Amino acid sequence: MSTHGNRTARRRWRAVATAATATALVAVPLTLASTAATAAEAHVDNPYAGAKQYVNPTWAATVESAATRAGDPTLAAQMRTVAKQPTAVWMDRISAITGNADGNGLKFHLDEALKQKSGSQPLVFNLVIYNLPGRDCFALASNGELPATAAGLTRYQTEYIDPIVDLLSDPKYQDLRIAATIEPDSLPNLVTNISEQACQQSAPYYREGVKYALDELKTLPNVYTYLDAAHSGWLGWDSNSGPTAKLFAEVAKSTKKGFASIDGFVTNTANSTPLAEPFLPNPNLQVGSAQVRSAKFYEWNPDFGEHAWTAQLHRLLVAEGFPASTGMLIDTSRNGWGGPDRPTKVSTSTNVDTYVNESRIDRRNHRGAWCNPLGAGIGELPRATPADAPADSYLDAYVWIKPPGESDGASKEIPNDQGKSFDRMCDPTYVAPKLSNLPTGATPDAPLAGQWFEAQFKTLVKNAYPVIPADGTTPTPTPTPTPTVTPTPTPTPTPTVTPTPTPTPTVTPTPTPTVTPTPTPTPTQNPGGTCSVSYTASSWNSGFTASVRVKNTGTTALSGWTLRFAFANGQTVQQGWSATWAQSGSTVTATNAAWNGALAPGASVDIGFNGSHSGTNTAPTSFTLNGTTCQVG
Ligand code: GLC
Repeated sequence: MSTHGNRTARRRWRAVATAATATALVAVPLTLASTAATAAEAHVDNPYAGAKQYVNPTWAATVESAATRAGDPTLAAQMRTVAKQPTAVWMDRISAITGNADGNGLKFHLDEALKQKSGSQPLVFNLVIYNLPGRDCFALASNGELPATAAGLTRYQTEYIDPIVDLLSDPKYQDLRIAATIEPDSLPNLVTNISEQACQQSAPYYREGVKYALDELKTLPNVYTYLDAAHSGWLGWDSNSGPTAKLFAEVAKSTKKGFASIDGFVTNTANSTPLAEPFLPNPNLQVGSAQVRSAKFYEWNPDFGEHAWTAQLHRLLVAEGFPASTGMLIDTSRNGWGGPDRPTKVSTSTNVDTYVNESRIDRRNHRGAWCNPLGAGIGELPRATPADAPADSYLDAYVWIKPPGESDGASKEIPNDQGKSFDRMCDPTYVAPKLSNLPTGATPDAPLAGQWFEAQFKTLVKNAYPVIPADGTTPTPTPTPTPTVTPTPTPTPTPTVTPTPTPTPTVTPTPTPTVTPTPTPTPTQNPGGTCSVSYTASSWNSGFTASVRVKNTGTTALSGWTLRFAFANGQTVQQGWSATWAQSGSTVTATNAAWNGALAPGASVDIGFNGSHSGTNTAPTSFTLNGTTCQVG
């Protein structure tokens, strides 16, 4: 393979680009200034704005051939509209770069993209970087070819990232805007599934691999990097979202360009979580005596959809140092949930679970059901800066990263040479402990992950929401009714345990403990105040995740608070969230964040941290809030 030659070409182009920039700065002869005008366009904030996106002709041809078999003429015409939509090109193994039995190589697609680019209108090419060592550490269906070892990382760098960057750096592609989705599921697995042996083993290679991909891709000014940020049903809980933003910041800071290495984040990649729940606009609404978010389906997660998740994530990222210009993408290729089972109104039940189950458009048994979910439909068509999205989601675009019709995983064992295994989450007969012992709801007879799955494709088109216009009509983006969701930092209970499964957690929320406050003398720092604390931790080898709920059981509202406690076994706080954390010896101090300092009488706040221990990990003691001793319960 001509890696060496390509790298030379890449260096040459960089040299040319630098010369052009230098010339432009000197600003003398007109002839040279016009040479500079042919150089690559400057990096823009939102690459999708005003741009077309690349339509994969191979995928479009497969969709077209499905249309010829659709039977129903309306369905066939809708499929033909789908065939015109842009989808991402997945580099899911080394051989995908040059092309293999499953598709053409990257050069083919880039050349096609040049043909699709008309005149001066920019064209975005959606590319998925997906081949980390130890890939898919918490699931099996998309395990990859590279082992989670130092040798695996070297191969990732030299046989995967380098050749991709070499191809992209050919000067003839300098005017394509390459939007790279970086490594779906990888960093999110390090947030929630690090207690799993496979994820522990993969962790250093995920971090190093992502850093390397960012460093190399960002040598090209026309590349835009979007890190995968899972979805609301995986990371929405405060106990997950805080550590996620911190991990992203850590990875960004480890790169050569720091925060500038990351243009944005993409959520819901290959998942089917809706943008929002039109009939459940307020997660904190009381139904009967319970909040909507406390229903089994939400497990206290405050984010019911991707609009809420992107908004929450953006806010946390900015607090970690990311620029406000950080843009978000949502994969809407399969999150439409239309069709006959879509509710049309709000439930009237006074039982919170019935209320949620009758009102929600997400028809899955469980939000952790990620494999070929039966009943899902195509969602919003790809488009830039969608007007229906809340401004605080900072969306660059709706995109189709997962090409509709490609399987998530086989429903039974299928031998293959890609490293993919059989994951029972793809087996419709399986009742999954990770899904609160509910059936997976997967579509039967599915082929291997990434293979064309026509039966599923038909359902996706039929259940699309908004309904897909028949080919020949101009698709008008119909905004889904999206009620504004109140942003998160509402102090309410959060599940104690780090949620579980890949693509999604199963968490058993801790019921709110009813604490009888012990009257204590009124200290000056916490006038009239008493407090109660509940502390829970889940530990593994040498690490643990702790959740702390602090309640103001006094009669005076606090406008700021400081919680202190002491560890008994030498534990240390590694990374905390929803407060500013400090430790001195065995004493830990957590001071309110800017948004959760107000604590009314009876109100509580949830904070948490990841810690390390050396074997024994008893709960800390001597909790005080603003100097007052707290009841522990
Ligand atoms: C899955 C597969 C991968 C495929 C992608 C897009 O994650 O593992 O091979 O390219 O989906 O369909």
